[in-house]
This record gives sequence, structure tokens and C-alpha cells, in this order.
Amino acid sequence: MIVMYTRLLIGGRWSDSADEKRFDVVNPATGDVIAQVASAAPADALEACDSAATAQPGWAAKSPRERSEILMDCHEVLIEHSQEIADLITNENGKPQADALGEVAYAAEFLRWNAEEAARLHGSFGVSPAGDKRMIVRHPPVGVVLMITPWNFPAAMITRKAAPALAAGNTVVIKPAKDTPLTALLVGKLLGDAGVPAGVINIVPTYSAGEWFEAAVAHRAVRMVSFTGSTGVGRTLLRHSADRVLKTTMELGGNAPFIVFADADLDATVEGAMIAKMRHSAQTCTAANRFFVETPIYHEFVERFSETMKTVTLGNGFDPDVTCGPLINAAAVARVDDLVDKALQDGAKRIIGHGRSDEKGFFYDPTVLVDVDVPSAITEHEIFGPVAPIIPFSDADRMIEAANSTEMGLIAYVYTQDLARGLGVAESLEAGMVGVNRAAVSDAAAPFGGMKQSGLGREGASEGLYEFCETQYIAANW
Ligand code: SIN
Repeated sequence: MIVMYTRLLIGGRWSDSADEKRFDVVNPATGDVIAQVASAAPADALEACDSAATAQPGWAAKSPRERSEILMDCHEVLIEHSQEIADLITNENGKPQADALGEVAYAAEFLRWNAEEAARLHGSFGVSPAGDKRMIVRHPPVGVVLMITPWNFPAAMITRKAAPALAAGNTVVIKPAKDTPLTALLVGKLLGDAGVPAGVINIVPTYSAGEWFEAAVAHRAVRMVSFTGSTGVGRTLLRHSADRVLKTTMELGGNAPFIVFADADLDATVEGAMIAKMRHSAQTCTAANRFFVETPIYHEFVERFSETMKTVTLGNGFDPDVTCGPLINAAAVARVDDLVDKALQDGAKRIIGHGRSDEKGFFYDPTVLVDVDVPSAITEHEIFGPVAPIIPFSDADRMIEAANSTEMGLIAYVYTQDLARGLGVAESLEAGMVGVNRAAVSDAAAPFGGMKQSGLGREGASEGLYEFCETQYIAANW
């Protein structure tokens, strides 16, 4: 039996929403409603901010070692409850159990990394060049942070933001995605069990994100907004945050090029291409969106990659044979289908794939497209589904220009056995992260984030911790 928490977590207590509204949570593999969760009203958002504001001075006053030990206990508790969390992830997100368990380990790792970092959050001390004063630089916490997290990693995107925020002495108010609030509520409960004091983490799902955010962002104590999601929503949140000159971190959309040179090790490349495209049911912002393959190996790559895509087993993530779950909802299926239809109308050829499925649930068949126009809708938009457009190239400079000719710049992949070329191309790509002969790039110890309209700031690594800090400079004489 899967235990589900379906009320708001504010100040360490469960409560219904002020207007007693609830919304449905649907299992995307079946289309069935699995729970009804309290939908926070603006009044609840404000109460959560009050609670975070009340808890913040006490949390910040704990020694770094105390915060570190609590976060380490949180890591242990998440690991102990891996299966329970993974079950909830598969239920509401649809990803296969192996991916869900992988996500829990990834989520827990942010707690461990930041537990270790909490005790090493240092400033600096020096003497001014003129020798007239001592210069002390310290990094106090920002205060209360609003966090808006996505449905594609319902556990890991909570801890990737909350762990560094807590390590630095902040308190948080989290609005998880309306498609996946159950995992967030369970994680919140477990972190409380592990010793995070009441009010330090508040979790307030809502169906009415706009009015929730407008109320919360205006709360006097809120000093920062951290968001993961689409670039469009990110722009709106940035506009609201600008009115109060709030600090922000934004993890926004991607449009990753996956570049294959003729000298690449084809076995490793196809394996990497599958990871970069299909990881977590092809719904990651790091997913390969456009494949650029050098002409001498283009046909062989298309054939071998298509054959491997055919081995993907689509279905309910609880079935151990399934390697790709459903898309998150019906709108996601319609969007992917529309991009593929447009590409086909423009002359693209479908090598494999049968489009959307008639089965219950929100499934889309793994699809490989060739003869795709560049640029076109499918190369300009983040697909967020199991569709791979493959484009041949013969001139590396023009290919790099095409790879960079997008407003997105989250991640890129380069496959070649010539490491000097791989690193040279990596440096010329306008992307915050590059995988060279490597498709799984994310790591709690690495700075995750994008250039251009893919985002602002970084998550993970020590960069991710300092995002949640202010910088204070003290000039002193003695
Ligand atoms: C994302 O898709 O938003 C995160 C992917 C990752 O952390 O690897």
C-alpha cells in the first residue's frame, strides 16, 4: 500500500487549504485519478511564508555543523525510504521504477553533498591594497526562498534546491508541480522526520499557480525565487521578481544538440544517444533535441540508433520490462504529436514510430525523423518526448553555427575519438554544460545550468550553495 500525504505542509503541520479546494492527481500510465490534493489558496501561500519567516532566524543560528548533521540525516532517511518514494514517483510521473529509484539516489545525493558543504561555507579576509583597512567578506543566508519545482524530477528537483538553501541557513516555501505533488509532500514529511525543524520547509501545492505566486512573491520576508521549468514561465516569474528586486535562479528550457563526428566510437555513441534522448522517458531538459551527424557515418548511425530505439519497451513503469513510461499528460502528447506532424508535412521522413498510442494513458511511440528542415518547429522547440530528428553535416563550422543558432543554451553533447577536437568544439558551443563522449552529465557536485535563455545561476556544486547566500563586505580598522 502506497501512503499518500495530500494536505499542505505548513509550519510542520498538515492542513487543508483556506478555501478547502482540492485537485486531482492522475497516473499518466493509466489516466486514473490516484489522489486529490489540497490546492493552496493565496492565504495559504502567505501563511507558509509567515511560517518560513518565523523559522528562519533559529535555523540560521544553528551552527553549520548542526545544519550539516541534520542534512546528512535527511540523506539517510531518503535512502531508507527509496522504494516508497520511487513508487510514488512512478505512480504520479510514470517513469519506470529503475529510473525512479535512480532519481531517489540522485535526490539524496544533493542532501549529502550539501551536508558536507554546509560546514565549509567560507568568506574571505584581507588587507586593502592601500593598507588602510581590513576587508572581511561573509556570506549570510538570503532569508526566505520561494521554490517552484517541475514534474519531471519530482524528488530530485526539490532537494537540488532545498538542500543548498538549508545548508546556507535559509528557510523555504515550495510549490511542487500540480502533476506531481505527492512525491514532494512525502519528501517534505521525511525531511521533517529526519530533524528539519517545523517551518524550515513548507510544501504548498496548488492548482492556481498564478495567484499563488503573486501572493507569495509580494510577502515582505521573501528574498529569493528559484524556479525550474519552461523559459516562458521563467520570464513571467522574473518580471514579478523584478518588482521586488528579488534574487533569482532559473533553470529553464533546453534544445540540446548531440554532435557525432565520423571518428566517433559508434557503439558508445549509440549508447550515449539513447541515454541523452530517452533518459527518464525522454522528458528531461537535458534531452538531446537535435542530432547532427557527420556524413560518412550518417546512414550507419541512423540505422543503428533506429534499431536500438525499436528495443524501447513502452508501458506502465511498474512493469519491470518497461524502459520508457508515458508522457506526463494529454497536453504533452498533443504537443509532441503536433511537432512531428508539422515536420512530416514539411517533408521529414519517419524511420520508426507510430505516433500517439490508442491505449489508456499518455503514450507516444519512440520516433526517429530524417530529412528534417533546419531550422523548423521541431529543431527550434524543446520536444520533451521520445522523438529524435537526425541531421547530416559535412562542414563542422556550419554545424556549430547551426547548433548555436537557438536562444537556448543548456547542454550539448559531442562524440569524437579526437579529444582535442571534442574539447575545442565544446568550448565553441554556447551551452552551460557539455558532455564529451558522455551523455549522463548531471551530478550533485557539478554546476548545473544554462547560458542564454536556458537560465540564470547554477544548481549543484559550491556555485549552487552560494546562490542561496548574500555577500556582505565589512571594512574594519582595529
Ligand atoms: C531536468 O530535466 O530538469 C533535470 C535533469 C537533470 O538533473 O539531469
